[in-house]
Amino acid sequence: SLEELSNKLSSLGLKDPLPKFEGSNPSTNPVDIYRCYIADQLAPITGVDAKVIYPGLEWTSSFEKGDLVLAVPRLRLKGKPQDLAAEFAAKFPENPYTEKVTVQGTFLQFFFKAGLLSKIVIPQVLELEKKYGPAPTGTGKRIIVEFSSPNIAKPFHAGHLRSTIIGGFLANLYEAFGWDVIRMNYLGDWGKQFGLLAVGYQRFGDEEKLKNDPIHHLYQVYVQINKVIEEENAELVAKQEEAKKTGELLKVDPNQKGPTDNEARAFFARMEAGDQEALGLWKKFRDLSIEKYKDTYARLNITYDVYSGESMVAKESMEKAAVMMKEKGVSEESEGAVIVDFTKFGKEFKKLGKAVVMKKDGTTLYLTRDIGAAVERYEKYKFDKMIYVVASQQDLHLAQLFKIMKELGYEWADRMQHINFGMVLGMSTRKGTVVFLDDILQEAKDTMHEVMKKNEVKYAQVEDPEYVADTVGRAGVMIQDMSGKRINNYKFEMDRMTSFEGDTGPYLQYAHARLCSIARKANIPREELEKANLEHLTEPQATKLLRALAQYPDVLVNTMKTLEPTTIVTYLFKMTHLLSSSYEVLLVVNEKDREVATARMALYEAARIVLNNGMRMLGLTPVERM
Ligand code: ARG
Repeated sequence: SLEELSNKLSSLGLKDPLPKFEGSNPSTNPVDIYRCYIADQLAPITGVDAKVIYPGLEWTSSFEKGDLVLAVPRLRLKGKPQDLAAEFAAKFPENPYTEKVTVQGTFLQFFFKAGLLSKIVIPQVLELEKKYGPAPTGTGKRIIVEFSSPNIAKPFHAGHLRSTIIGGFLANLYEAFGWDVIRMNYLGDWGKQFGLLAVGYQRFGDEEKLKNDPIHHLYQVYVQINKVIEEENAELVAKQEEAKKTGELLKVDPNQKGPTDNEARAFFARMEAGDQEALGLWKKFRDLSIEKYKDTYARLNITYDVYSGESMVAKESMEKAAVMMKEKGVSEESEGAVIVDFTKFGKEFKKLGKAVVMKKDGTTLYLTRDIGAAVERYEKYKFDKMIYVVASQQDLHLAQLFKIMKELGYEWADRMQHINFGMVLGMSTRKGTVVFLDDILQEAKDTMHEVMKKNEVKYAQVEDPEYVADTVGRAGVMIQDMSGKRINNYKFEMDRMTSFEGDTGPYLQYAHARLCSIARKANIPREELEKANLEHLTEPQATKLLRALAQYPDVLVNTMKTLEPTTIVTYLFKMTHLLSSSYEVLLVVNEKDREVATARMALYEAARIVLNNGMRMLGLTPVERM
């Protein structure tokens, strides 16, 4: 609490009670202690309200420029900003928090006093542990994060891989900030393809195989039956060509479908009509697939609160929406179908074109089901925010959905957000093109295992190589996915992502394991670390690392704005690089002076906590030995 913090600060000889501003969290964010203090000091000097100054104090781009920087033009004062900056710097009083204030153009740069920073940051990290970083700004708010959403019986492609990784991360992020998070999987589990799958299963299916490996078996069946359809289609086309030549046009209907296609259609029609027998088979496919998906998601530390799906959107919801769309003039009839013509909503919406919401035969579409699903979700969960984590190939679809909800007058339409992302190029492995998440993870694990075996001595020391290979391989896949901006495409490179060189998942895992190893060897009890004499942390490596650790809460606040995993990934690599360059200088195990060793170990333990928190936020499982 703020009171405890004030007591702690006064025990450090900092007498002034700390002011607090809207949005500030000095009791969980060490940098906010400085921000609050500096803003309060600058208020009488500048004549500007401290509330206005507080959010203007930002991190510098590099340590040479100090720690916090304030752009004087932000204060909107009369006079030349350069002159004002110089004046304010000169007037800034001697104080226990900052070493010096310098002027760079129109910027004021504040340098933290090194000695104090360690005493503020390290105890805060050690005390808060897993809670260090986020502030509870989302308490009382609810968010639905819809992610992964594969299509049953079809390949789990790169788009689903990315949605799973990014969505899992976003759910963790919001949860850490205190939001009530509902993790939702919206399965593609409805449509004509299920009629096809059922027909295929009746012909090629195997009960035993279905039970043992539903995802692969259903996919096999799906491929087989599609081949039949293709063959039948080719036959029809050949017949038509033949007819053209012989002039027997009238005998061949160009819209004619093959017998298997007709059978599939009929089967799906039975499903739509609620035929229990037809639905039974579909339900079996669905249940077995979900069971299997759950295992795979568990490997990624993901558990869903809700397995929803296209099949679960109630007819009544869609009918209700259809009536509303008609009444409000959002939809119109066109050649027997119902469509929405977005061009009528103005220039801005021209690019949304037209979309069908009800087919001629009265059946619904992907978009129709999404409209119904959104209404049902709001009624059930009254969300403050809802995120759809879906590939940017569906930008148009989601823009259409959001616009329709807005036009229907739902006040919560603005709370929906599409989190999109680019493609994975060349997602194939040595075994060929990967189509299932399980196969990707298996391949990453196998590759990682080979990499580990190359270092025989170390490999012999690893207690559970299977577990380590799996966990570290997975980290490789995930970090590669989250390294760039979401919207960028990236190339899937198994060898690169499982390498220890460069900014990879294995590198992060190694950094964590190394910190754990130092702690084991040093074997200094926690109580001693908490009482460490931090005056010993004087080396520039220690100071830089401390500043990086102090930045973590700010990095998270920033991540809530960007919703980009790379914001955290980039930070973690910066921090671990600083760690790597500290080990040679900040010895622990080989340091003779116990007091010095203890202070350094306290710093490393704080670094381990921050790294661990960051990795977990990204969905990784930090390993302790490897
Ligand atoms: N199942 C869809 C696909 O694989 C993704 C679903 C995205 N979510 C949604 N509400 N439309 O393409």
